[in-house]
Amino acid sequence: MKNKILRLLYQRGDFLSGEEISQELQISRAAVWKHIAKLKEEGQQIEAVTNKGYRLKRPYRGQAYGWELEERFASLRSGLWKELVFEEILDSSNLEAKRRIQNASAKGEDISGTVVTCEMQTAGRGRRGRRWESPAGSGIWVSLVLKPDIGPDKASMMTLVAGMAVRKALSDLFPLKAGIKWPNDIIVDDRKICGILTEMTVEDMEMTGIVVGIGINVSNEAFPEELRDVATSVNMAAHDKEADRASILMCLLGAMEEYYERFLKTGDLTGLMDEYNEHCINAGRVVHVIGVDTDWTARAIGIDRNGGLRLIKEDGEETTVSSGEVTIRGVMGYAK
Ligand code: BTN
Repeated sequence: MKNKILRLLYQRGDFLSGEEISQELQISRAAVWKHIAKLKEEGQQIEAVTNKGYRLKRPYRGQAYGWELEERFASLRSGLWKELVFEEILDSSNLEAKRRIQNASAKGEDISGTVVTCEMQTAGRGRRGRRWESPAGSGIWVSLVLKPDIGPDKASMMTLVAGMAVRKALSDLFPLKAGIKWPNDIIVDDRKICGILTEMTVEDMEMTGIVVGIGINVSNEAFPEELRDVATSVNMAAHDKEADRASILMCLLGAMEEYYERFLKTGDLTGLMDEYNEHCINAGRVVHVIGVDTDWTARAIGIDRNGGLRLIKEDGEETTVSSGEVTIRGVMGYAK
């Protein structure tokens, strides 16, 4: 019943009286009031005005966010994005995308161009086996299913392509200065605003799909102690109390399509690396290069066409490292 009321409010897009809701759904006014209170408790912003009724305000949460996304996705002009999957709760959108690829490939189907997203993840996955906090209402948790005609050794380049798309979407929409910390963290004010985890599905030694999982912190007003110095959100960085997740996601899909097409022309980052390096905050800086049992400093130059980071060592020798073998930290903080 609660969701039926939410649907009515969403469809009206303006005030709807308690009387109209009670007649439409054949329930008492008291029941309407009770369900509205529950929706508010769940984080929906519902304005109540005497003699006018109730109005659902943005930013939408839960299922209303899903309806909004479906509507916006349907009017997206895209040759790449074909289907949107929205669930209120998922363990992880990456896991869900991988399950869908496996089911589809068992039937000989290809679901590339599918966008899997949700309101919250109960087991969000980060890089290097870490957990990714993904509470309801505060961010964009999305996985993009792609199947480029490239070898599995090149799949990790998709992460850099996605990083460029996130940076562009956030910079186009908000008054903030976003940069990329190699390979794929999006950084604002020396703090991480977005993380990307790219995974591959393989069957009988054949790549059946690439899942690019993107997590963007949007409406957090603060972070727990351990993340305070390293994490930020769109609201915190742009002071935008209305940061609208649906607009960010649509803008991100548009940017990803553009960069992905450029990537496909050469099957590597040849056509993208100049722009990447322009926004790579490590380029030109001294960085700590952390390997399994090594830690050295070098000056970063920028990426090469395979997405490796080119470095000048202290002895002047040039070398290139890949994201699988090392982690980079700034000498002044997390990023710089
Ligand atoms: C990182 O550690 O920086 C990568 C974080 C990636 C998080 C996103 S949220 C959507 C998608 N689903 C997941 O379980 N992880 C990715």
